[in-house]
Amino acid sequence: MTHQEIREKFIKFFESKGHKIVPSSSLLPADPSVLFTTAGMQQFKLYYTGQSDAIKDFGSLNTASIQKCLRTSDIDEVGDDTHNTFLEMLGNFSFGGYWKELAIAYAYEFITKEIGLKIDYVSVFGPSTSSGQAAKGMPADEESEKIWKTVQKDIVVKKMGIEDNTWGPTGNEGPCGPTTEIYVNTALRQAQGQPAVEVWNIVFNQFYYKGNRGQLLDETDSDKFENLKTAGIDTGMGLERLAMVAQKKKDIFETDLFEPIISGLPDHFDTRTKRIIADHLRAFVFLASEGVIPSNKEQGYVMRRLMRRVMAFNIPHNIIDTVINIYAEQYPELVAKKGEIIKIFKDEFSKFTKTLSGGKKELDRMEKIDAMGAFRLYESFGLPFEVIKDIAKDKAKNLTREDFDKEFKKHQEKSRAGAEKKFGGHGLLLDTRELKVGNEEELKKATRLHTATHLIHASLRKVLGEEVKQAGSDITAERLRFDFSFPRKLTSEETQKVEDLANEAVKKDYKVTKEEVAYEDAIKSGALAFFKLKYPPIVNVYSIGDPSTGSGQAFSKELCGGPHVSYTSEIGKIKITKEEAVSAGVRRIRAVLD
Ligand code: ALA
Repeated sequence: MTHQEIREKFIKFFESKGHKIVPSSSLLPADPSVLFTTAGMQQFKLYYTGQSDAIKDFGSLNTASIQKCLRTSDIDEVGDDTHNTFLEMLGNFSFGGYWKELAIAYAYEFITKEIGLKIDYVSVFGPSTSSGQAAKGMPADEESEKIWKTVQKDIVVKKMGIEDNTWGPTGNEGPCGPTTEIYVNTALRQAQGQPAVEVWNIVFNQFYYKGNRGQLLDETDSDKFENLKTAGIDTGMGLERLAMVAQKKKDIFETDLFEPIISGLPDHFDTRTKRIIADHLRAFVFLASEGVIPSNKEQGYVMRRLMRRVMAFNIPHNIIDTVINIYAEQYPELVAKKGEIIKIFKDEFSKFTKTLSGGKKELDRMEKIDAMGAFRLYESFGLPFEVIKDIAKDKAKNLTREDFDKEFKKHQEKSRAGAEKKFGGHGLLLDTRELKVGNEEELKKATRLHTATHLIHASLRKVLGEEVKQAGSDITAERLRFDFSFPRKLTSEETQKVEDLANEAVKKDYKVTKEEVAYEDAIKSGALAFFKLKYPPIVNVYSIGDPSTGSGQAFSKELCGGPHVSYTSEIGKIKITKEEAVSAGVRRIRAVLD
């Protein structure tokens, strides 16, 4: 059974059970508290909380998807038998459509009949001797064991505690609940002494967790649980693991999702290295296809680490093609963007090779590499932690990720305090591409200019008409620069009118409000989007206006990542300093604050 056949079986199965098939959402989520999409349910959060209506959007209370995910928490473990960063998750979801009985029955039927596997055992959430008690706010799941026994009388059911059998939330808050999980094994794996693997996680989302604890639901947090508006089902089955057991392989790297990459690498690379390269290249290809470029910040930083670790080895040129070919059918956009993806790789490669040899020389000179030395190598030569570990071997044997990260953090704090203005480089306090600042004081100024940009954008449309569309925006602590489509030079009266309108909005002291909504709804409601950007399914919309008139009447309404002031009077006086041409049909406005 190829991975493509597994996908098709999954989709057909849930379609036949009345689920609407929804495409994978972006790897880059709207929620600023998480860097990447790590689970299929993320794009569906608003259906559990009742903020969005599944019938309206999908024509069904039940959906299924194959979601691209990136999990970086185990990045240092990649190379062993089980860990990877990029993965695809098969999932079925219900927002008030069905509950435990059907969720368990579907999973059982799919695993045993469609894929033809035997279930080793299942786990349910309940106090266990090994991992403590149920969370105070989350009672033990009494029903699931009974349901499993009706599905298969002699099934082995294990009770597991908080750490194993609860889910959520992604980010700081969100839906969560107890889980039941399915474990399978194959004769080959058993013969090799391998344990059963968890293939399917079925979550009964019942609560909304309003804490700030990340993934772990601590037993002391009983007051942080609220009943969800729409209790529902959220399941996740890693395609890589399912392929492993369905294809009777002993680890995921032998499946057809990895094997072509692994076998395309030189024989003299050791197994661990091959796996790391295969894993990281997959993650790279998908990130690049979504427009991420390597940088020193956030998603770009993770991408750079993944890429540079691969680049420390001499890999064959056509290996990126191999990765793309594996996914050509499911993700045709990878084929369409192949040129772009390869260019991103080459550009980063030439940056890296320039510094790599210097870094290697420096590393040779060093006797022992501790966290401080490693950080210096990173800062001066761009060698990521993993590459240093790989190249330095024994010299860096006491170097840990934890110490390195501590050093990294120390440096970030120092550069904030020192207010260094290293625009575009490491040490920026904030870099949203549109807005770059080095310290708190600059952040305040740039934030005021950012809200001023929205006011100018809205004023331009009011004065010149709706043909005005954003073509670019660049903000520093000193000035704003806004590019927009318009066919001719503005008259000085028009420029003055735009400035006056924007300043009137400042005087009215409008409130700036942020809302998290589905992209489609945002666009339908008239919020302005920047056409060059690809947006995630759930976006932030900033409205500026008198709240009593409703957001439909707002002075300005845009999809935006922030930050913004809370009230427009914080901006001060806006002064347009220049109106000029950028290219045919594109004008540029520069403005400052008095
Ligand atoms: N959201 C659950 C997971 O990702 C299903 O494991």
